[in-house]
Amino acid sequence: MRILLLGSGGREHALAWKISQSTKCEKLYIAPGNAGTENVGENVQIGVNEFDKLKDFAVINNINMVVVGPEDPLVKGIYDEFGNDERTKHISVIGPSKQGAVLEGSKDFAKAFMQRHNIPTAQYRTFDGTMLDEGLKFLETLKAPYVLKADGLCAGKGVLILPTLDEAKKELREMLGGMFGNASAKVVIEEFLCGKECSVFILTDGKNYQILPEAKDYKRIGEHDTGLNTGGMGSVTPVPFATREWMEKVENRIIRPTVEGLAKEGIDYKGFIFFGLINVDGEPMVIEYNCRMGDPETESVMLRLKSDIVELFQGVALGNLDKRTVEFDDRTAVCIMLVSGGYPQEYKKGYEIQGIEDVCESIVFHSGTALKDGKVVTNGGRVIAVSSYGKDKEDALEKSFTGANKIKFTDKYFRTDIGKDI
Ligand code: AMP
Ligand code: GLY
Repeated sequence: MRILLLGSGGREHALAWKISQSTKCEKLYIAPGNAGTENVGENVQIGVNEFDKLKDFAVINNINMVVVGPEDPLVKGIYDEFGNDERTKHISVIGPSKQGAVLEGSKDFAKAFMQRHNIPTAQYRTFDGTMLDEGLKFLETLKAPYVLKADGLCAGKGVLILPTLDEAKKELREMLGGMFGNASAKVVIEEFLCGKECSVFILTDGKNYQILPEAKDYKRIGEHDTGLNTGGMGSVTPVPFATREWMEKVENRIIRPTVEGLAKEGIDYKGFIFFGLINVDGEPMVIEYNCRMGDPETESVMLRLKSDIVELFQGVALGNLDKRTVEFDDRTAVCIMLVSGGYPQEYKKGYEIQGIEDVCESIVFHSGTALKDGKVVTNGGRVIAVSSYGKDKEDALEKSFTGANKIKFTDKYFRTDIGKDI
């Protein structure tokens, strides 16, 4: 197989690391990749949304499979773009069609889909700019805190949780007034759910599915889940409360109805589904769907996937995923994210990163890095994920923290409490 992987983050380095271990992978390209993906494949300087250039590249380089990392090209329809072009329609794209990606691209669609298929999720209503007064009245019927979600993609910034009614009303006015541009032309207002979160991932061929190891991620910048939201500061798998019994509920009430619902509605879906779940008094409920793997969950989940991922991707493409097996590593895996000081607000880029080669007990995945004059430099807010196996969580965390301390760059920051709450 000649594979083209799209994306440039830690998720993509982890996917590239796993794909490159497959005996079925003859050649791996990553577009655009980062300084780390270059070590397991060949980077190609094409952006994830440059569909014409990607198709030309795929044709010239005899690509058989395109694996899509981030949501943006999926929501923009890369699957359909390859499928509708005579030159590229034979290439398997691992990722849903544009219609399938709406599960992530529109919160309103996702909520209505869950309602149609009786999938447990928070009660909600959706409002557009013509319904401001109704929205304000609806808020008065709810209890604090208030959850407002911009309907469209907002790079992880579109969900607001407000402690008071006055703040919720003010934010609703601003969102419907264009705070997130077109993405907040519609706003979902939903009931606040209280519990611990867990990310569950599947691969589906549209009919069959295989469940991958679950993980917990840590979104806030500060210790003990304080401060601003980030793209993710670390992850842990397995999740202790995701017992066999709990996962059976997840499969019966959420995973199977979702895959069957997509099929019933004629939605072409061949790729990952990420279920953002919350455990409410022992009952799993859906907070959100994503049409891709999570970041930084992938940087721990890939460590626990023993099966050949390309073999699974072939099952997705051929529609015989039920004939493939997924084997998990029983060990714990964790990832600690090293970020640039100042992130998720303003931060500087271009600092030299030293000490990566001194990390011996962990796997280092690059996130926001670049090569400059032969040196690896910081090139984003989230810079490097330090991932480790352990006989238990404490063992894995200790290795990752040791690794995190060996890697040096100006204003490096990481959370030291990852995994301690579960
Ligand atoms: P989302 O982008 O939908 O994943 O939302 C971002 C974060 O907001 C989630 O990971 C949760 O921590 C929180 N959140 C979203 N919806 C709810 C809800 N209904 N109740 C409580 N917290 C929520
Ligand atoms: N870790 C959450 C996400 O990837 O959206």
